[in-house]
Parts: sequence; structure tokens; C-alpha cells
Amino acid sequence: MAEVVASQASSVAEKLGDVSISEQVPSLASTPATSATHSQTKQETASSTTSEDSPLDLGANQKPTEIDSPAVPEIVPVVAEPTPAIAPEIATPQTAPETTTKDPIETTETKPSHSVHTATKPSPLYPASKFELIDRFIDDPRPLRVAVIGGGLSGVLAGVLFPTKVPNIQLTIYEKNKDFGGTWLENVYPGVRCDIPSHVYQSTFEQKTDWSDQFAPGAEIRDYWQRVATKYNVHQYALFGHRVEDLTWDKTDSAWKVTVTDLDTGETKVEIQDFVLTAIGLFNAWKLPDYPGISDYKGVLRHASHYDSTFDPTGKRVAVIGNGASGIQLVANLQKAVGHLDHYVRNRTWIASSWAPGDERSLEPQPYTPEQVTLFKSNPEAYLEFRKGLEDKYWRRFGTFFRGSVENAALRTQFTEIMRRRLAAKPELLEHILPDFSPNCRRLTPGPGYLEAIASPNVCYIRTPISHFTETGITTTDQESHPVDAVFCATGASVDALPPFSIHGPSGIDLRTLWDPASHHPESHGFPYSYLGQATPGYPNLFFIYGPHGSGPSGTVPHSVENQLTMYAKFLRKISREGIKTIAPSRSATDEFIAYSDTFFNSTVLSDHCSSWYNGAKPGGRIHGIWPGSAGHVTQVRREPRWEDWEYTYLGVEGNRFAWYFGNGWTAKEADGESDMTNYLKKPGEEVDLRDLHESWWELPGVKSGK
Ligand SMILES: Cc1cc2nc3c(=O)[nH]c(=O)nc-3n(C[C@H](O)[C@H](O)[C@H](O)COP(=O)(O)OP(=O)(O)OC[C@H]3O[C@@H](n4cnc5c(N)ncnc54)[C@H](O)[C@@H]3O)c2cc1C
Ligand SMILES: NC(=O)c1ccc[n+]([C@@H]2O[C@H](COP(=O)([O-])OP(=O)(O)OC[C@H]3O[C@@H](n4cnc5c(N)ncnc54)[C@H](OP(=O)(O)O)[C@@H]3O)[C@@H](O)[C@H]2O)c1
Repeated sequence: MAEVVASQASSVAEKLGDVSISEQVPSLASTPATSATHSQTKQETASSTTSEDSPLDLGANQKPTEIDSPAVPEIVPVVAEPTPAIAPEIATPQTAPETTTKDPIETTETKPSHSVHTATKPSPLYPASKFELIDRFIDDPRPLRVAVIGGGLSGVLAGVLFPTKVPNIQLTIYEKNKDFGGTWLENVYPGVRCDIPSHVYQSTFEQKTDWSDQFAPGAEIRDYWQRVATKYNVHQYALFGHRVEDLTWDKTDSAWKVTVTDLDTGETKVEIQDFVLTAIGLFNAWKLPDYPGISDYKGVLRHASHYDSTFDPTGKRVAVIGNGASGIQLVANLQKAVGHLDHYVRNRTWIASSWAPGDERSLEPQPYTPEQVTLFKSNPEAYLEFRKGLEDKYWRRFGTFFRGSVENAALRTQFTEIMRRRLAAKPELLEHILPDFSPNCRRLTPGPGYLEAIASPNVCYIRTPISHFTETGITTTDQESHPVDAVFCATGASVDALPPFSIHGPSGIDLRTLWDPASHHPESHGFPYSYLGQATPGYPNLFFIYGPHGSGPSGTVPHSVENQLTMYAKFLRKISREGIKTIAPSRSATDEFIAYSDTFFNSTVLSDHCSSWYNGAKPGGRIHGIWPGSAGHVTQVRREPRWEDWEYTYLGVEGNRFAWYFGNGWTAKEADGESDMTNYLKKPGEEVDLRDLHESWWELPGVKSGK
């Protein structure tokens, strides 16, 4: 690597002609930043031509897949100047297609350049220099090795947006599964589908107008995200079948050592990354309950997130444990097929009719008519109006979260009435299911068909706690045994936000020790102590995507993730352009965020006494599942990072933050005789949005518009 750097640097110096800068480039050997020393002038030309094509330029083995109607104008991603070249340290992804399609002659063409001058002889009359200038251009960002862990919708969106928004990124997406999709790849239980409208639960920039159903089945959602990944060539960054086992901070190199296991071979290797972002999902670490005797049970035993699709429920006796959203969907969808169903429920829950007025659910499919699909495909204006009307409602629900609010009281009345009506066949159930906490304390579930199912003659709604499992079924604490052919545990996932792998920061302490509620470590917080859900003090160069406080109580997950990633792209650009070696949030800013969150959540029904993934399944526990504010609120916060809340260390000359960043005082663009330095000038009369004037990072002088 060092040799490559040296030769690239000297070839650039030759190309630029009379570069009279100190020979001595300060040693940055421990960082990849060294390789940014001028070498990018040549690479940049090459890679910008590559990147121009990359997201839509599919590899030889891949067919472009239309996400949707050709009638809807396709949004072509704008790609930043230099493009990632996969870092030599990173193994080539198994599925990586060829990406460079341009003629190499074009990419290595020597352009006429203006001379780059700096003075060699210091003036004796001027204050003495404290260090020698570093021979690099300010607009030559260092290649940044970035790892994203997880290939659900968050990982897919990272793979689309980061290479577009972060020049010189070298991205790897580690995914333990064999494809993208996350939640929607793994969950295949009967009835799995989104419970907010499909047209809302999709990316803002890849609009699928032909969703089959108002609430699409899980497989259709999986296919959608996999097609987004294919269209934007995200596979080139993926290491599928690779599970991350550990992150350990290397103080010498200021980088993360990422230990991954290749699940095909069992081989474990360590890769080096400058920056790591987790996109591991909130519900991916599912687990079976640990009841005594569970391993003795001889029937079919599955977690809902690990469902056996070959199981034929017809006429069988089955048990479903849990009444979260998964259990509710499972019970409603199994009840009609099975002979008998025991439904084990620990706590009460609210059943909503819908998330928003007009979006009422039924157990039966709610397909769009062919006429509607044709209209959405053929008439972009009509589709936009439709989607805006649908999506707007998801930004408006925030008032229902406040304790004592009229809106929340109205929900209570409405849901009580709905539940009473739908339980008409077994009215005595109402007193066992109506919660004493407010609606919205737990995540709401429309639960189509659920109440009707538990009111059916073939369902036993069991509130008596489970004592143990036997070979043939479940025994409750009243010593009654309930034999069944199959047990489905819809018991959720670890919701304490602890990652499923260790993260050893510079102090050597595993982050999980500090966050684990059961930890006795003297420095333990006992909850996910994070700055704005983005990062945590003491663990540099580590961000969380859709992790703690990941999205607002209102809004939509894809919009939230897109905005969080866009904010992270700003960070990564700053880090690579300014020569930031490490970045971590300060403790004081984090403490003040936690104090704000505590105060905020205390005003909401989220702090009622219920068990939910918002509070780590601890009634009254600190809320970390969602953002302390509305979806509009978190979007605003993410638009402008508060740089002053972060602590930085820098590459280059110790004690001078500008030495590496400012380099030789030149931009590569002005050193290039062919660049358009006056690209900011427009034709007279051409409309200029003054709010955006001189704001965009991709329109600096000399940068080709949109490149
Ligand atoms: C059954 C179900 C239904 C849902 N329905 C809705 C809904 O209707 N509306 C809604 O808004 N939300 C819903 N959700 C929430 C849903 O999880 C999110 O909306 C969204 O899918 C999260 O995407 P993600 O990429 O952040 O996480 P995930 O989809 O969970 O993806 C995480 C990825 O990280 C990978 N990973 C984890 N650990 C490792 C490791 N150590 N190494 C390598 N890879 C790793 C996993 O394999 C997985 O692919 C639902 C969740 C479930 C479980
Ligand atoms: N689109 C959809 O319809 C849909 C479907 C599935 C999931 N989701 C999303 O995923 C989230 C998680 O849903 P989920 O249902 O998988 O998990 P969940 O909401 O955490 O529910 C888990 C359920 O299992 C129960 N449970 C846990 N451990 C148990 C044990 N040892 N014994 C008995 N019961 C036990 C819990 O009871 P307690 O309440 O007593 O703790 C709870 O009822 C949802 O909130 C939602 O955001 C959405």
C-alpha cells in the first residue's frame, strides 16, 4: 500500500509540473490518508468517469430490473466525483460485478494543468513556520474505508446513498444472510405483511406504483428492496454470508478491526475499517424463551422470525406465545387452518383499527384494482397526489402520544369500542385484554382478524403463566398441561439495543458492558447511552443506523433512515475532506441529550407502565426505542449536525488541525487547466434559488455540475 502511495504521489507531482513543495510529506503511515496525497488527481479523473455510470451500470452478470412503471420519470442518482475503489485490505465481495466500463485511455488521460506553486525559501522577516506544508489539495478527500453491518433496508439505502454522497468512500456491507432484505427476508410466517400502507413503506426516491395490496405481503417488500439494491448496484459492496463477531479499536492505526466469520467456510478473518456503521435492525436478534424443559419438547418448535414454511397447520393443535405484532398476525392467520390454538399472553394490549383514518385493515387481502394500478403507473401527478395524501397522515399522529391529551383519550375510547365490538362472540375476554396503560405506550397494532380469532371456539386465550415445557406441550403454573403439535414463539427479539457482537473501544471495555441493564461494571449506564441515537462517547468512528432513538413516533421508517444516512454522509464527507482521524460525541452533549429525553418522554404515554420495545421490555424503563420528538422534529435535527457536540482528532501535523486539511493551499480543480472554475455563473434570466446559492457541496468551482 505504501509503495503504491509513493508512486502515485510522484506521478502526480510529475504531471503537475513545477510543484515546489517540501519533499517531506509528514508521516501519515498509520492512516489511509497518506494515499490521498495528490494521488487522487489521476484517480479522480478515472473514478469520476466510472462513478458517472456506476449505480445504473450493472455488472455483466446482472440484468437491470425495473422497479416500476417506466411512465414514472426515473431518478438518476447524482454521483460524487471520485468513486470508491475497493480497499486492498477488503476482500472482493463474492457477488461483486465489474464496475469500470470506460476506456482506460480516457481515464488516464493527462490534462493540461496550471502550475502549482508554493514558496521554498521562507522570508526571514516573516514569523517562522511551525511545520512544512503537506503536499495535497484541499479537494482531494482521503479514501475512507467504511463498513456498514447489515443489509436490511437500512443497509441497502446506505449502499445507494453513501457512494453517491461521499467522494472516495470504500464501502463494505457485511451481511450474515445470503441476500439483502433483513426483516423481510427472514420473516416468512403466515400473514407477514406491513401494517402501514405499502406506498408509504418505501423509499422516497424509488417509487413502486404497482404494489399489489394496500398492505403488501412480506415477500413483495423483500423483492422491492432487493430490486432497489440491484438497480443501484449495491451488490458490489456486499459481503453476504459474513457475520460480524467483534469490533476492536486499534489505537495505533486509529481504525476498527472487524472480525467476521464466513458462514460458508467457518473461516474467521479480521478486516480494517476507518469507520463502522451498524444497521443491524431492532428486531433481528430474535430468541426463543428459556422455559424449563423447552429442549425436551418433541413437536415443532419455532420462533416466529424463523418460521418453518413447510409446516402444514391444517387440523393441528398449535400454541402461539406472545401478543406483540408478530403473535397477533400469526394467531389471526393460523386460527382458521388449525384444529386448535392455545394463545399464551403475559400482558394486555390495545388493538387499533388502523394507523390512520381511512387505512382500516381487514384480514383478507386488500388489493388495488387494475384500474388504480394503471392510473398510478401512467399518471405521475395522480400518483403523487395519492401518495402525498396517504403519507401525510403518518406525520400527523404525534398528538396522540401525550399523556392527558384529548387525542390520546379519543384513541382510548375508539379502541375500547372497537375491541368490545370485535370480541362480541366472547365478551368476557374484554376484561382480560383491555390494558390499564394508555394507547401508544406499546407500539400499536391494527391486528386485523386477531380479536375475531381469539373469540373463536377453537382458540384458548391463556393468561396463566407458563411453568415449563414437556415432551408433548406446555404446562402452566396451575399444573394444567396443554399438549400441542407445534409451538410458535412470537416472543420478539432482544430489545435492549445491545449489539449481537462485542465492541471494544479504546478503553478496551465492551460497549455491551456499559449498556447492559444487568451489568455491574462501575461505569455501566445500564441503558443504551447514546448521543441522539447516532453514536456514543468513548467509541470513535462508530455510528448507529436506525438504532437507539432511530425514528420518530410518527413518520415512516424509510424516510427516517434516508435522512439519517444523509446526515451521516455529511459527517463522512467532513471526515475525509478535513483529515479527521477520529470523531466521537462529547459526554456533556450526550448527558444533556439523555436529560432532555427523560424530561420529554415523561410527558408522554410512552412512560406509562407497559412492556414494549420502546423501553427495552421493562415497564417504566428508559425509552430508547424512538426519538424524543416528532418525525418532523428528528428530520430537522438531522438536517444540520451540531459539530460543536463532537470531539475530534486530526491527521497530519499534531497540534494543527489545518495542516492536513488545507494542504498546499490549492484546489485540484484550479490546478486542472480544463476545469470550469466559473460554473456558478448562469445565463441571464436563468432562475436561481437564492436559498441554495453557494450551498451545495457538489457545485464548488471547477466541479462539473452534478459530478
Ligand atoms: C415481522 C416484522 C414486521 C414489521 N413490519 C413493519 C411495518 O409494517 N412497518 C414498519 O415501519 N416497520 C416494520 N417492522 C420493523 C422493521 O424491522 C423495520 O421497518 C425495517 O425493516 C428495519 O430495517 P433495518 O435494515 O434497519 O433492519 P433489519 O431489516 O432488521 O436488517 C438488519 C440486518 O442486519 C443483519 N445483521 C445483524 N447482525 C449482523 C451481524 N452480526 N453480522 C452481519 N449482519 C448482521 C441481519 O442479518 C439483517 O439483514 C417490522 C419488523 C418485523 C420483525
Ligand atoms: N407489520 C406488522 O404487523 C409487524 C409484525 C411483526 C412485527 N412488527 C414490528 O416488530 C416489533 C416487534 O414485534 P414482535 O411481536 O416480534 O415482538 P414484541 O412486540 O416485542 O412482542 C413480543 C411478545 O412476546 C411476549 N414474550 C416475550 N418473552 C416471553 C416469554 N418468555 N414468555 C411469554 N411471552 C413472552 C411479550 O410479552 P410481554 O408484552 O409481556 O413482554 C410480547 O407479547 C413490533 O412492535 C413492530 O414494530 C410489525
